[in-house]
Amino acid sequence: MNSFETLKAKINNKTAKICLVGLGYVGLPLAVAFGKKGYFVYGYDTDSNRIEKLQKGEKFIVDVDPRDVLSLIKNKKFYPSTDEKILKDSDVIIICVPTPLRKVKFPDISYVVAASRTVKKNMRKGQLIVLESTSYTTTTREVTLPVLKESGLKEELDFFLAFSPERVNPGDKKFPVTRIPKAIGGFSAKSSELAYLVYSQIMETVFKVSSPEVAETSKLLENTFRLVNIALINEFAILCHKLGISIWEVIECAKTKPFGFMPFYPGPGIGGHCIPCDPVFLSWKAKKLGYKTKMIDLASEMNRYMPKYVVERVAELLEEKNSSIEGAKVLVLGVTYKKDVKDLRESPALEIIEYLQHRKAKVNFFDPYIPYIKLNGINLKGINLTKDNLKKFDCVVLITDHSDVNYGFVRNNAKLIFDTRNVYKGTFANVVKL
Ligand SMILES: NC(=O)c1ccc[n+]([C@@H]2O[C@H](COP(=O)([O-])OP(=O)(O)OC[C@H]3O[C@@H](n4cnc5c(N)ncnc54)[C@H](O)[C@@H]3O)[C@@H](O)[C@H]2O)c1
Repeated sequence: MNSFETLKAKINNKTAKICLVGLGYVGLPLAVAFGKKGYFVYGYDTDSNRIEKLQKGEKFIVDVDPRDVLSLIKNKKFYPSTDEKILKDSDVIIICVPTPLRKVKFPDISYVVAASRTVKKNMRKGQLIVLESTSYTTTTREVTLPVLKESGLKEELDFFLAFSPERVNPGDKKFPVTRIPKAIGGFSAKSSELAYLVYSQIMETVFKVSSPEVAETSKLLENTFRLVNIALINEFAILCHKLGISIWEVIECAKTKPFGFMPFYPGPGIGGHCIPCDPVFLSWKAKKLGYKTKMIDLASEMNRYMPKYVVERVAELLEEKNSSIEGAKVLVLGVTYKKDVKDLRESPALEIIEYLQHRKAKVNFFDPYIPYIKLNGINLKGINLTKDNLKKFDCVVLITDHSDVNYGFVRNNAKLIFDTRNVYKGTFANVVKL
């Protein structure tokens, strides 16, 4: 049997060994899903701390129960390690390493390059390699493939390569990773067939497209769609405030239309990785092709303005109360970038705290998931949400609407609340909404 037939048989009879490269929000849930389906799973990560946590059964990914991880390890179905040799023993290698944005708005693909090099050093005939990390269109062909070819092995003969964009939504109980349809784009029919076969073992739906570029771009379209719609609704929120009407009520009304409208909600700014970073990958690539994106750039600008706008509104509210933002005691309630997730990446709350401090407000924060934050090298410790503490603040700025907070208690004890998430339904004397 040739490499293709051998690998296909191994996937079908569940003897294929699967290795996740990068055990974060994306890699770890996939490792557990394959392990639960009876595959032997390796997990390669350069962070020894993370591997130790996994082996000790510590929780660090919201969607993964550490008991599942421990049980897979105990039953010799999962072997997480920092030793790259495990790659050589793997039949399917799935790369899920980070792709952050550099400060200069340039996609940082150094992790993808590093992971591809590690894979190359440990390649042998008959492996399928899938890149899942979100990046600009052509990353798989122009970055990963050339590195893998340095192994001397031939693509589509000795090894197979595909791109499959990750669509996880951390903390989403309705759509765990295996329920989100998976798109795949291989370099050839063979790569696509193998990737299709592998993901079909754990996913309810797998959708094949004609190339890695289509799969890469589809992910960027999904996130750009959100970026643009969030920017639009943020602009509407500002406009509604000027018009003296509630954006939240306007949305409730608009969404009664059963077609042609999809509700998006305003907020204090965008965070995480997907929405702030992915569309910028696309505009960066477009620039290389001599085209300047317009919608993406404008939407990014609009969303980037929101943290500043929140602070301007807080200053206005304090002035209305014959007070001043300068010297005011402000409590930022919730600092992670979205509810019920312990993730500070690109969180607008951090920018809001900086703006508040810049305006000389005295800022504290509370977040059930985050005990302290580091801003410009200075540690800021979260406070406890007690009655006495709440009464001390001139304004509470509600940024992240975690489920695990007693909002009634906050309302009963706070002088003034600026609610950027529409947590408080109804009208209250001490609550003002975005
Ligand atoms: N988190 C999400 O919600 C989400 C959603 C969709 C897509 N994505 C994309 O998936 C990719 C991974 O994101 P994530 O959220 O899982 O990141 P993460 O930071 O949670 O995890 C990445 C892991 O990769 C490890 N790593 C870094 N370099 C490595 C290397 N060379 N070899 C092996 N391991 C290495 C890190 O130590 C870390 O454990 C990114 O491209 C991201 O854009 C993330």
